[in-house]
Amino acid sequence: MARKKIIAGNWKMNMTPSEAVTLIKTLKPLVATEDADVVFCVPAIDIIPAMEAAKGSNICIGAENMYFEEKGAYTGEISPNMLVDAGVKYVIIGHSERRQYFAETDETVNKKVLKAFEHGITPIICCGETLTQREQGVTIDFIRQQVKIALLGVSAEQAATAVIAYEPIWAIGTGKVATTEQAQEVCAAIRVCVGEIYDEATAAAIRIQYGGSVSASSAPELFAQPDIDGGLVGGAALKPDFGKIVNYK
Ligand code: 13P
Repeated sequence: MARKKIIAGNWKMNMTPSEAVTLIKTLKPLVATEDADVVFCVPAIDIIPAMEAAKGSNICIGAENMYFEEKGAYTGEISPNMLVDAGVKYVIIGHSERRQYFAETDETVNKKVLKAFEHGITPIICCGETLTQREQGVTIDFIRQQVKIALLGVSAEQAATAVIAYEPIWAIGTGKVATTEQAQEVCAAIRVCVGEIYDEATAAAIRIQYGGSVSASSAPELFAQPDIDGGLVGGAALKPDFGKIVNYK
C-alpha cells in the first residue's frame, strides 16, 4: 500500500494563542487536501485554541515536545495525558533544537517515544547530522545510531505507525536546503535501518519526512523522492506558502 504523505509544520517558539487562531483561520482553506495528512505542531499554550480554530478542517494539531513521566514534580513540563486530553495525535520528539538547547539525548528521546506510543500519540522522531559530521563522512552512521536508539523497545506494529523526520542541522533555518539526492539518500538509509531492526513490511510502512529550509519551490522535487514521505517545515509553515507546500503537486 502506498504511504500517505505527511506534511507537518513545526511552529517552534512562535505565535501567541490569538496569533495562532488567526494563522489557522488564514491557512485552513489553503491546506485543504485529501492527499496528505496535515499536522500543525504548535507551542503547548496554543494547542487548545488551535484545536478549536482547526475544527471541521483536515488540520491535525500536534505538540512540539512532551515529557516521559506520567505526572508529578516536573515544573514546566507537559505530560502525555495532558496532550491526549487536549486531543493531540502527534508529538515532535527530539528536535535538534531540543537536543542542542535543552540537553535532550538519544536516551531521553527513546523514553519519550515509548511514552508517546503508550498513550497512543504518534511520535515524529527527529534525527539529523551537523555540518562537521557530514564533512567527516559519518552522516549515515550517525543517523543510524540516532534511529536505532530512538526505537529501542518499540514494537514493529508501533514503528510501522511512527514518523521519522530527517533534518540535517546545517539546513535548519539557514535557507540552505539539502539537495534532493542528499535528502533521498539519508531517508532511504533510514528505511533500510528500520528494515534491519524489524522487517520489510515495517520499513515499507514507516513514514519518513525531510526537514530543513523546505519551501514552496523545493517541496515538489523533495516530496517526489521514493523514500521521502513529506516534510517537517519550520519558517514556511507560518506563512500562506505552507498551503503551496501541502499542495505541492
Ligand atoms: P526550517 O524549515 O525553518 O528550516 O526549520 C526546519 C525545522 O527545524 C522543522 O522542524
